[in-house]
Amino acid sequence: GKKPAGVPETAPRSINRVGVVGAGLMASQLALVFATGLQVPVVITDIDQARVDKGLDYIRAQIAKQMEKGRLPQEKAEALAGLVSGSTDKSVYAETDFVIEAVFEEIGVKKQVFAELEEIISPDTILATNTSSLSVTEMAADLKHPERVIGFHFFNPVQVMPLVEIARTPQSTDEAIATAFDLAAKLRKTPVLAKDATAFVVNRVLLRLMAEVQKAFDEGTDAKTADEALAPLALPMTPFDLLAMVGIPVAQHVTESLQSSFGERFYVSKNLQALIDNGVTEIWSRNDLGAKYIKDETLALME
Ligand code: 3HC
Repeated sequence: GKKPAGVPETAPRSINRVGVVGAGLMASQLALVFATGLQVPVVITDIDQARVDKGLDYIRAQIAKQMEKGRLPQEKAEALAGLVSGSTDKSVYAETDFVIEAVFEEIGVKKQVFAELEEIISPDTILATNTSSLSVTEMAADLKHPERVIGFHFFNPVQVMPLVEIARTPQSTDEAIATAFDLAAKLRKTPVLAKDATAFVVNRVLLRLMAEVQKAFDEGTDAKTADEALAPLALPMTPFDLLAMVGIPVAQHVTESLQSSFGERFYVSKNLQALIDNGVTEIWSRNDLGAKYIKDETLALME
């Protein structure tokens, strides 16, 4: 097929073992997609065993779902499940050729993860970040080998969304970028080469829309009305459903990050902050008939 713009002529590296840092929803989805697409071992880690187990459970449940839908024979499903393993010990990354991080969206946290990884991985293991709003260049700045670092940004739900934004820093090697494009093709994704600028292209635009919806929400338009009104615009998913999928704290954090780069046109919702402060992580409930309604505690917080 046609090559996307910006792909170097350099031969990609072959990737025989993948590491994913984190075991949250994004990380687990990434592990599943890499194992499925490459058919190589994938290791995930997190700070405690409970988080690792939750991630592995998610991956197994998704594989089981594919099997139940008749898309994956039992033998292949078992082999796939067998490719993914988890640990709390970062030394499992020692033999990896490619590591992607999907930890908390905070520059200090991500820099520390990369610094720790450099002590474990070989000097030419490619280091990718799934950041949606931070500078990849800055993330690589203090490393011994910043030239191996690239941005590799996926969208929720990773199994379904075709787009991947690949970000190149001034130091990224042609080989690292060529490998990212090759990986994207093997994962059956559509890669684009994005400038390493805050939120790349997609979130910069998407979050503007989301910010305006959230401002209307703070000003008294309830979530259900906003979603019902916007659905006929043929958005693939209504704004508050999208928020529920991404997770309110994650979405809020990304908006704050965009506001600090681009200013007030990225509006940070007070209502959503009230929900987060009160530990409410879900917007919707369903009644006995399956109809969606906003949770009572959500409404109470907004009075
Ligand atoms: N996790 C995993 N798989 C999911 C899923 C989820 N949360 N939601 C839906 N799917 C799967 C379904 O299982 C189904 O798979 P199948 O065809 O293999 O059975 C497939 O998606 C289609 O689902 P449905 O037919 O039920 O529903 P839709 O036709 O409405 O499609 C959708 C679902 C593709 C998720 C669509 O609603 C959509 O495109 N939504 C917009 C998503 C979006 O905007 N994502 C970007 C979020 S922002 C982001 O991630 C950036 C980050 O950095 C913050």
